[in-house]
Amino acid sequence: MRMVDLIEKKRDGEPLTTEEIQFIVEGYTEDSIPDYQVSALLMAIYFQGMTEKERADLTMAMASSGDQIDLRAIGGIKVDKHSTGGVGDTTTLVLGPLVAAAGVPVAKMSGRGLGHTGGTVDKLEAVAGFHAEITNEQFIALVNKNKLAVIGQSGNLTPADKKLYALRDVTATVNSIPLIASSIMSKKIAAGADAIVLDVKTGAGAFMKTLEDSKELAQAMVNIGNNIGRKTMAVISDMSQPLGFAIGNALEVKEAIDTLKGEGPEDLTELCLVLGSHMVYAAGRADSLEAARQMLITIIHNGEALQKFKVFIEAQGGDSSIVDHPDKLPQAKYKIELPAKEDGWVAEIVADHVGTAAMWLGAGRTTKDSDIDLAVGIQLNKKIGESVKSGESLASIYSNSEENEQVIEQLYRSILLSKEKVQPPVLIHGEITG
Ligand code: URA
Ligand code: CA
Repeated sequence: MRMVDLIEKKRDGEPLTTEEIQFIVEGYTEDSIPDYQVSALLMAIYFQGMTEKERADLTMAMASSGDQIDLRAIGGIKVDKHSTGGVGDTTTLVLGPLVAAAGVPVAKMSGRGLGHTGGTVDKLEAVAGFHAEITNEQFIALVNKNKLAVIGQSGNLTPADKKLYALRDVTATVNSIPLIASSIMSKKIAAGADAIVLDVKTGAGAFMKTLEDSKELAQAMVNIGNNIGRKTMAVISDMSQPLGFAIGNALEVKEAIDTLKGEGPEDLTELCLVLGSHMVYAAGRADSLEAARQMLITIIHNGEALQKFKVFIEAQGGDSSIVDHPDKLPQAKYKIELPAKEDGWVAEIVADHVGTAAMWLGAGRTTKDSDIDLAVGIQLNKKIGESVKSGESLASIYSNSEENEQVIEQLYRSILLSKEKVQPPVLIHGEITG
């Protein structure tokens, strides 16, 4: 097989075969095919697209390019949740214990990563002693025992995707639905779940800014999952404003605890119930989505969800007394309020700008090796649609620096008031099943 012939084929709009896609992905991973040829192929894909079969083949080829976790030793249907990323998205911290308490085995592989805040593993490390560096055997044993464990992402998960993503980044080919969908799905497949519930975000703080693009990406991922034999569905949820109130690592752990107690923000609670119901249903633990939802509400109110969180934290070395004493979580030195300058209604909270402010405080990494400050972040006190009186605090800034002018200005630019009453945004924009 010659790479030049495959580029030509794709350039002219002909689909590639399973063997051809395998050849390209293997060749690129082991450096026998150079960047310039793969760049040309990516650009051809960008313009010509990929068939459903090509997308499934690319996903499988990337999933098998490195380590894959074998979860067969765990009983039951393992369901994974994946979010396409937003600002202050605390759902994973809530959903793990919540659906585990409903009997769904949750074997969660999670990364650190770049962004406005740390990844799930960073957030959990706000709990003293907690660690996700466990062996695969410990991981599987913990899921079998407690129905929930979190393991740090293997450095050798989908190396083909890592290389291709980096190349796409510098060849203006990131923004291709077939390439994004297979990139995301390859990591989910390598992480071993039987069924996948996708939370595709839409709006200013999301990777996909328009509803149309978000739906197209969701449909593409759902099709890939179902075509390769993993039951997959997607919820399209709002990210025009940050989810919940907290954006920051320790702040989000506290927010997750509140939500598991039934005292969390309305939007975060509702999204967790929607995603959680799909997870419970996909795992065969309830006969309908409505029954699954009722089960989750019961589990929150009878304390089982919170108890599961404690057991999970302790099993991975963490101090579970933070659940009853959240002041034991890392605390920032300064808390600065952001008073409203006039009366009105909150009209906009531009999610990615608020996220950037949280990153400036130190809540997220700017480069792969930078440190994050687990204590800092932003707590919104108002969400879109709420009325505000002049002088009332719009948000609280948790900082470890005396210099916060830049963050304050950024937040005033991000939280916009209107003189007229504003409706809160719709939280769930759609659901896509196979
Ligand atoms: N996230 C991914 O993991 N891959 C993409 O291609 C885009 C976003
Ligand atoms: Ca949040």
